[in-house]
Amino acid sequence: MITIPISHRSAATLAQGHLWIFSNEVKLTKPFPAQGTWCWFENNGTIVGTGYVNPHSLILGRVVAMGRRDHPEEILRERLLQSFERRHALLEHGAARLLFSEADFLPGLVVDWYSGVVLIQSNTAGIDAVLPDLERIVPEIFEKVFQRKCEGLVVRADSSIRRLEGLDSFTRVVIGDASALTQGAFNQDGVLYAADFINGQKTGFFLDQRLNRASLAEAIMKDQKKKVLDLCCYSGGWGLRALKEGAGHVTFVDESAEALALVEKGMTLNGFSGDRARVVKSDVFDFLESNKETYDVVVVDPPAFVKSNKIKAKALKAYEKLNRLSWRRVKEGGRLITCSCSYHVTDAEFMDVLNNAVSKEKACAHVVYRGSQANDHPVLLSMPETHYLKCVGLKKLTF
Ligand SMILES: C[S@@+](CC[C@H](N)C(=O)[O-])C[C@H]1O[C@@H](n2cnc3c(N)ncnc32)[C@H](O)[C@@H]1O
Repeated sequence: MITIPISHRSAATLAQGHLWIFSNEVKLTKPFPAQGTWCWFENNGTIVGTGYVNPHSLILGRVVAMGRRDHPEEILRERLLQSFERRHALLEHGAARLLFSEADFLPGLVVDWYSGVVLIQSNTAGIDAVLPDLERIVPEIFEKVFQRKCEGLVVRADSSIRRLEGLDSFTRVVIGDASALTQGAFNQDGVLYAADFINGQKTGFFLDQRLNRASLAEAIMKDQKKKVLDLCCYSGGWGLRALKEGAGHVTFVDESAEALALVEKGMTLNGFSGDRARVVKSDVFDFLESNKETYDVVVVDPPAFVKSNKIKAKALKAYEKLNRLSWRRVKEGGRLITCSCSYHVTDAEFMDVLNNAVSKEKACAHVVYRGSQANDHPVLLSMPETHYLKCVGLKKLTF
């Protein structure tokens, strides 16, 4: 392990529980350490943290333990055990995030579980460096904590944020059959979803919306007359849940043909009859500009429009436009469920966007639901960056 000196300011931020060390807080001397080298961070002659560095990243250092620790494997074991134990009660939901990066004190690592299959997602060079250890330890600790077999293990190192670390993409099947893992299925809260665990978006599903999707129960009330529009639907996280809650019909819209194929499989897996769904491959804006139908519930769950602060103003306009168009598709008394997964957009800014969208449509709304990411994606108080998801339910008022 090498020692990296950090500034007083960085040491003070770390002492408050913020686990990132920015490149302008460190004076690296040549030769630079290799990407992902595990190290100690030192300030004023004291080792203040243990973690890893990437000289090619703006976030140069990430801390995995306070003070000096000599054995990375020991830290990995501790972190996995602690975060898996924290999720003990969550396995009954059928799928869950078992470890959420900084929020579980292991920056750069995500571990997800889908009814038997475990996914390891590595987003940083430091986690890439310990993947051989993780591939061994994760199934061992999973089986120990949950007393269940790890029937599949896949490493996903293909998220776009790896580019910020200067890293290439790859995926690896460690346990299981690759072709079966592309044709996966799992249950979440009683709904069956199809998933491609090797090539699908994220690690195969958007687990973070679990609690927000539960708000559909109250919006639908087992009323078969209810018509739902699921915009940016991916594998049908919202729409299939709406059908399970008793909605009569769902229109699923996504620009990705692979996503819509998963929706179709999900319909079959749940035994929902085909006449309860329509699947539309379209850009969401094009669909909303051309479609004039109205729905009892419109869900709009787009990708993050604001990927950096630089394009924030433009992206906020795009959110406003999308929400105005979506609002027009909501029946009087109906509900718009609208989401933003952009970390750079605060709760207040998102509410402002919605207020502008609804008032420009010369309408009024009651805020009937406010949610965030599900509790297996905890927010670490000392790292606001761990809070990203916003979900708001708006009821269309007549006045
Ligand atoms: C955050 S994910 C949606 C997750 C999904 N609602 C769920 O509950 O699992 C965003 C989705 O939007 C789709 N998408 C991205 N840009 C789009 C666009 N311009 N038009 C339509 N779909 C788009 C992506 O293919 C992706 O499936």
